[in-house]
Amino acid sequence: MGDQMRVTSLAVLSLLACACMMLAAPAASEDAGVGPPLALPPGEAPALPKAGPLAAPLSQDQVGFPAALTASAIPPNSPLKPAAVALGERLFFESRLSGDGSVACATCHDPARAFTDGRPLSIGIHGCVGQRNAPTVLNALYNKTQFWDGRVTTLEEQAALPITNPCEMGSIDLTSAVAKITGDQRYQAQFMEAFGKEMNDKDMLRAIASYERTLASFDSPFDHFIAGDERAISDSAKRGWALFNTKARCHLCHALTDDKPDVTAFTDNDFHNIGIGILRHNVVPLAQQAERELTQGQLKEVDTAAIASDLSVLGRFLVTKKEADIASFKTPDLRNILVTGPYFHDGGMDTLWDVVDHYNKGDGISDPWLDQDMQPLAMTEPEIDDMVAFLVSLTSSQYKKRGDEEYARQLALSKVSRPQRDTARAFGPKPVQPKPPPF
Ligand code: HEC
Ligand code: HEC
Repeated sequence: MGDQMRVTSLAVLSLLACACMMLAAPAASEDAGVGPPLALPPGEAPALPKAGPLAAPLSQDQVGFPAALTASAIPPNSPLKPAAVALGERLFFESRLSGDGSVACATCHDPARAFTDGRPLSIGIHGCVGQRNAPTVLNALYNKTQFWDGRVTTLEEQAALPITNPCEMGSIDLTSAVAKITGDQRYQAQFMEAFGKEMNDKDMLRAIASYERTLASFDSPFDHFIAGDERAISDSAKRGWALFNTKARCHLCHALTDDKPDVTAFTDNDFHNIGIGILRHNVVPLAQQAERELTQGQLKEVDTAAIASDLSVLGRFLVTKKEADIASFKTPDLRNILVTGPYFHDGGMDTLWDVVDHYNKGDGISDPWLDQDMQPLAMTEPEIDDMVAFLVSLTSSQYKKRGDEEYARQLALSKVSRPQRDTARAFGPKPVQPKPPPF
């Protein structure tokens, strides 16, 4: 029964995809979508992006599309119905769901920017600057957990949190958010068509999640290469892919298993401390504070702490309170990485060269919780370029033009600025890791 429903929902999805398949280039807008977005006057939320062709549900007819994995990512109790998906897309751009009508999901997940905001840290209602970088929503349907610290598992649970987070959309609660749109007759009809019921918060979240489950993004040069087109990627990118699975040790985390290259989601669905941001913070007092202040299992408290407090740096620890999880974060999918910068949970790195430089020196010398798989990699400059070329090859076709522009921008920046590069450490021995301080 479950399987049959899944098959049915997939059939519906492909119908829908045919109807909506539009991978055309978007119309020009004020925000070029390349490099950092414009600065904002203090106290103001960013402008709401428009839904364009890039917001449309994506086709299943993409090279590299994982049919079985996608089917298993669609919950049997929430099959993909075109009416729910269309409603979800509209809700994704609906700023009335926020406390003052200024912020929608799309504010921070702009389709023109591959469903990110291009900022190091996201900015929400009243210009509130959060503590974390907005991940893309593309392929989030495959995530085993959502958020950098995995504090929820489903897209429905995920969508509920930003709507009420005081630093994101700032509604008092879901009911009051829904109340803002109950007078809208088009919404009334859309809810009725999608769910056969009056508007309610549970179905609102289901609709948003349904829409997100249509945002499967493949069809990158890498996918064409894996499908057998040898010329789809450069020799440099091929060398980068080989390094990824050997000397550079990326596969130890960005693959389902250590021994088999992963060509789909590039994540082990696990959490690691890879030394991002941790040295800037005095972690032990923060962990003690989190133990005192956060009630176990209180999701709202964790969500507020993660987005709007210094405790954010504790990462997965906020959820598990296990010492080993201090400052560990989810291994993210790497698809479309070129167009979803700046990088890491704190958006602290501007280019893919910075990212590779970080790994090359095995960063975190004085981080006692650093993952044991982190170590200096002794990658040469040509090898670093190869790794970047591989990462660039993960850009889906609908972002090709933006990707080319962003690549040119990052390349130019990398020629004048490589703040993470430390060649001596990259070619040095693995440093002795300090013991964790008493807790
Ligand atoms: C103010 C900016 C902002 C708004 C508004 C916002 N998000 Fe996000 N989103 C973020 C940030 C930042 C994160 C990461 C937060 C964290 O990990 O703690 C995130 C995480 C996510 C994730 C998890 C992705 C992953 O890889 O783990 C999804 C899915 C998502 N948002 C969807 C939504 C939806 C749906 C809405 C509207 C209901 C929304 N977001 C509203 C900034 C925003
Ligand atoms: C020990 C596990 C581990 C290894 C090894 C590893 N990664 Fe990561 N990677 C992660 C985690 C965890 C994050 C998120 C960390 C954070 O933001 O604090 C991440 C983040 C990234 C990001 C940024 C993603 C984003 O959306 O901002 C890129 C790019 C990346 N890794 C590429 C690589 C490459 C290339 C290699 C090999 C040179 C590699 N990783 C090796 C675990 C790992």
